[in-house]
Amino acid sequence: MPDARLTRVATCVRAARSVVAMTGAGISAESGVPTFRGSAGLWRSFSPSDLATPEAFARDPRLVWEWYRWRRDLIRVAHPNPGHLVLARFEKNLPQFQLVTQNVDGLHQRAGSHTLIELHGNIWRARCAAGCGRLTEEPGQGCLAGPGGAPAVDPPACACGSLLRPDVVWFGEALDPRHITRAIEAARVCDVLLVVGTSAVVYPAAALPRIARQGGALVVELNIEDTPLTAEADVVLRGPAADVLPALEALA
Ligand code: OAD
Ligand code: ZN
Repeated sequence: MPDARLTRVATCVRAARSVVAMTGAGISAESGVPTFRGSAGLWRSFSPSDLATPEAFARDPRLVWEWYRWRRDLIRVAHPNPGHLVLARFEKNLPQFQLVTQNVDGLHQRAGSHTLIELHGNIWRARCAAGCGRLTEEPGQGCLAGPGGAPAVDPPACACGSLLRPDVVWFGEALDPRHITRAIEAARVCDVLLVVGTSAVVYPAAALPRIARQGGALVVELNIEDTPLTAEADVVLRGPAADVLPALEALA
């Protein structure tokens, strides 16, 4: 028999005019992409201040690029999982659906999501570190090999003579105001907010559940464990996103 909480959320999703899903690293966990926090999280073995700040890049761009290239390697061999696929189908099948992700891995797009808001950028893009405006997009393969197939160890250069940097948001940097404004507006007017696989500690993304709740939405947390959001959520669904989202879709 289906879980009563799952049935409640499915009923609300079915009746909603507008549904928003906000995702974090947990949705890609079952695709084999490491999360940031938790026992096997990246921030257990790596220091954000050495790798994910503008100061780190200014100090040692080669080290920062090495780390991002390593992460691209992990993501390149990963595939979207059933959780990503459900959210792509929600975009197609629900009357109004907005996906907001903190992930930079591009797995939502590979699953078929088109209109998502990427709050923290995308690891497959690079942009000029000096701000000349150049943006490059890696297709997701082949970017590790330099000329002759040797690993590319030098940070990529921009045509203006400066360096390219990963087009992601680092600690201490502001989010693109267009993206966060759209996300806040979507959260404000939605009827259901699904918060999937995020530790809900990094702002401003972590503020979206409260904004949705103030606007009258049902806030649903889907996570394998408790987070600071758990106590505030209207419904908590425990379990891996790759299992719970298909179960929800089947009832919705
Ligand atoms: P975290 O690594 O902080 O949190 C991942 C969350 O996913 C945790 O709450 C886990 O319990 C949960 N989780 C793990 N596996 C899951 C599964 N199979 N199904 C459902 N939930 C699962 O990742 P984020 O919350 O995305 O920012 O982190 C937010 C931001 O902090 C990231 O975007 C990144 C990071 O530093 C920047 O780099 C700017
Ligand atoms: Zn440039």
